[in-house]
Amino acid sequence: MKLFLDTANIDLIKQWMPTGVIDGVTTNPSLIAQEKNGNIKAALLDICNMVNGDVSIEVVEKTPEKVYAQAKEISNLAKNVVVKIPFAQEYLPVISKLTKENIKINVTLIFSLTQALLVSKLNVKYISPFIGRWDDIDIDGMELIKDLVTMKKNYNFKTEILAASIRNVIHLQKSILYGADVATIPPLLLDKVFKHPLTIQGIEKFDNDWKKLNKTNMFNEK
Ligand code: E4P
Repeated sequence: MKLFLDTANIDLIKQWMPTGVIDGVTTNPSLIAQEKNGNIKAALLDICNMVNGDVSIEVVEKTPEKVYAQAKEISNLAKNVVVKIPFAQEYLPVISKLTKENIKINVTLIFSLTQALLVSKLNVKYISPFIGRWDDIDIDGMELIKDLVTMKKNYNFKTEILAASIRNVIHLQKSILYGADVATIPPLLLDKVFKHPLTIQGIEKFDNDWKKLNKTNMFNEK
C-alpha cells in the first residue's frame, strides 16, 4: 500500500520524506491557498523535486478546453506530476484524450461507484474517493472504499483507489483493511500514529528500567 501526504506545506513534506514511508503527495487548491506561497509554480516544483513519487496537482480552470491546456501545462512541470481533475461529465472527453497521451490523471471528488467506474474505463492512474466528506453528512464513507475494491477486482481495472479526505485513524485503518491501493494522509494525522499512549508508555518503561542498570555503554562490562 502506498502512503501519500495530503499537504502543500513544503516544511512538512521535508520533515516526512526522510522517514522513507511517504510514496507521494496530494495537493488541491484549498491546501495550496492555506500555504500562501508567493510563487505557486516554484513551490510546486520544490515539492516535485523533494518527493520520490507521484505529486498530484489540481487544475483550476473551468471550461474543458482550458482544463485540457492547463492539464498539459501541469504535466510538463515534472516527471512525477499527476494531474488532478474533478469528476464532471464535460471533463470526460478531456480525461480520455489526456490518458491516451499517457498523462497521469487523478480524478478527484469521487463519491459513487458509478463515477468511479466511468473514469476507471478511461484508464486514469488514480481515483480519489472522499471518505471524510461522506461522513460530514452522516453517511459512512468507508463503504465506498469497500465497494471500489470489489469493483476493481471484478473488472480487473488498473486504476488505483486513492482513499482521500481521511480525517481520523479509523479512516486510515479501514482503508488499509479494505484494500485501498493508496491512502493520502494529512500530516497532523500521521503525527497521531506516533503518539500512541501505549507506545509512549512502553518507551518510558524501557528507559527507566535501563537507567537502573547504571551503564554508560550497552556492551561495556565494566
Ligand atoms: C486529497 O486528494 C483531497 O483533496 C483531500 O484529502 C480532501 O480532504 P478534505 O475533505 O479533508 O478537505
